[in-house]
Amino acid sequence: MAGSNALVEIKKLQKYFSINGGTVKAVDGVDLTIHQGETVGLVGESGCGKSTIGKTAIRLLEATAGEVLFEGKNIFSLSPREMKALRKEVQIIFQDPYASLNPRMTIESIIGEPLDIHQTLKGKARKDRIKELLRLVGLNEDHMQRFPHEFSGGQRQRIGIARALALQPKFIVCDEPISALDVSIQAQVVNLLKELQDRFNLTYLFIAHDLSMVRYISDRILVMYLGQMVELADSDELCKEPLHPYTQALLSAVPTPSPNGRRERIVLEGDVPSPMNPPGGCVFHTRCPQAMDTCRVVKPKWQEVKPAHFVACHLYE
Ligand SMILES: Nc1ncnc2c1ncn2[C@@H]1O[C@H](COP(=O)(O)OP(=O)(O)O)[C@@H](O)[C@H]1O
Ligand code: SF4
Ligand SMILES: [Mg+2]
Repeated sequence: MAGSNALVEIKKLQKYFSINGGTVKAVDGVDLTIHQGETVGLVGESGCGKSTIGKTAIRLLEATAGEVLFEGKNIFSLSPREMKALRKEVQIIFQDPYASLNPRMTIESIIGEPLDIHQTLKGKARKDRIKELLRLVGLNEDHMQRFPHEFSGGQRQRIGIARALALQPKFIVCDEPISALDVSIQAQVVNLLKELQDRFNLTYLFIAHDLSMVRYISDRILVMYLGQMVELADSDELCKEPLHPYTQALLSAVPTPSPNGRRERIVLEGDVPSPMNPPGGCVFHTRCPQAMDTCRVVKPKWQEVKPAHFVACHLYE
């Protein structure tokens, strides 16, 4: 379970990209505290800024404005030496394990690479550690000399997880780690991530474009739309009592196991607007089934409308 110590504190985070003379507001004012041992799910349609938050949170990208504190220290102002130490503490797992694993490297060299960069282990100790990592993620240690293409999608994601664990990190950004996998394999990878979390007291930011699996792994869920936070609550609370019309629409698309539990499907009209030219007022107003006149002009405030349940929507003001 989640402890109460803050491990990662994202404060007023902004990340803008300049392209073709315009500005993409990929992340526009995100505040989120992730506690030690907690999993925070981050959901929203493609292009809403999830990967950008994940990468900025571990400084794979530089922020435009705002801060990220890791164990109380602003990671944007670390010295090169402190930065190297941070690289051991924070890791990322990507959606497409095939694209993120070098096809010409053996599994031994892929998983050994972080150990070599940080020169933590050599010779037999290094090999033993790689074997141990393979066992931890449920792979056969005799397969160390094989190449990524010799494994299935699910196995390749396990290799990615083993590599992420090599330096005993505290915080892992899981950037859609199951989105490219068959549904039958998704639950296995989620269960593995949960087991590893319990065992090593890991903290996760778990990114997904829909709510179907995230709700099982997350303690809390943050819903994003066009670079902005729209709703944040405990996972159960969010799925039972979604307040924001966007969250309600995302949830209505998730199949429910019980036939009586069926929600009416809310189909959102149109695509996500361009983040180069986001709508004024509430960013969601162009697609919101409940939009009112005020929504087109006034930006809704982020407020706690029930204990630990936050939403940005005029319906609750
Ligand atoms: N390196 C980049 N240069 C320009 N625009 C980018 C870059 N990375 C992401 N973006 C834009 O920022 C927005 C958010 O992207 P991203 O964080 O990848 O969203 P998500 O992960 O939710 O799909 C998108 O409009 C995307 O096109
Ligand atoms: S503020 Fe208005 S447009 Fe935005 S989600 Fe709420 S009702 Fe819909
Ligand atoms: Mg992404």
